[in-house]
Amino acid sequence: MKSTEKYLHDLKQWLQNTSDSPLEEMSDFFTKRLDDYEEHMLIWEKSYQMFAEVLPLKCQKILDLGCGTGLELDQIWKKNPDIEVTGVDLCQSMLDILLKKHSDKHLIIVCQDYFKYDFGYDKWDAVISFESLHHFLPERKKELYQKVYNGLKRGGVFVLGDYIACCDEEEELLRSVYLKRREQFAIPDDCFVHFDIPLTLEHERELLQNVGFVIEKVLDNPDGATILIAGK
Ligand SMILES: C[S@@+](CC[C@H](N)C(=O)[O-])C[C@H]1O[C@@H](n2cnc3c(N)ncnc32)[C@H](O)[C@@H]1O
Repeated sequence: MKSTEKYLHDLKQWLQNTSDSPLEEMSDFFTKRLDDYEEHMLIWEKSYQMFAEVLPLKCQKILDLGCGTGLELDQIWKKNPDIEVTGVDLCQSMLDILLKKHSDKHLIIVCQDYFKYDFGYDKWDAVISFESLHHFLPERKKELYQKVYNGLKRGGVFVLGDYIACCDEEEELLRSVYLKRREQFAIPDDCFVHFDIPLTLEHERELLQNVGFVIEKVLDNPDGATILIAGK
């Protein structure tokens, strides 16, 4: 594992080298990389397995935010093929792959922005999200986490697996570059772009706690995704 200093040095170098690359619209970004998406994500294989392992066995009805081609669902259904899943994603081409892989499962797909999708109230045993929410500013995430909280049944869990910033400096650096580049490329406010703006673990926990969640467990996996289990 790299030291924080070396990691930040390489990140700054990369940001400098890519400073003229235009920001790509979110759904276009994933559609263009569809052919080798699953292979590329193999680096997270262990994290997907851990993610499926922490989902409580009693969960029957789950909502997956940014399900993509369903790499986390592959593992979850391996453990419990009867789980009913509603998967929300902006990108139809990713959802088409998910549908092709799992046409035999209890699966509803929704091609929509999860900020706009109605989660309902007291409806889900679990809401899950893997490697999707690090593209959004904390103000937007707060609004989403409130919807997740309201949508969960009492005793339900939000299982979040995501890229977490290693320190305040990384969080602040990426956020400032993100805001600068949106301005530089005149990106309209309502357009989602693919650029990583992860929060630190401390800030992610705070956001969840501020809407009422109790953090039940954190699997801080330095070589993969950090997984938080937040209970209602
Ligand atoms: C890195 S992929 C992760 C997909 C899947 N969870 C996995 O781990 O393979 C991020 C996914 O989030 C989706 N996404 C990003 N922003 C979204 C939004 N606002 N609403 C719905 N889906 C979104 C993207 O389209 C993409 O499929």
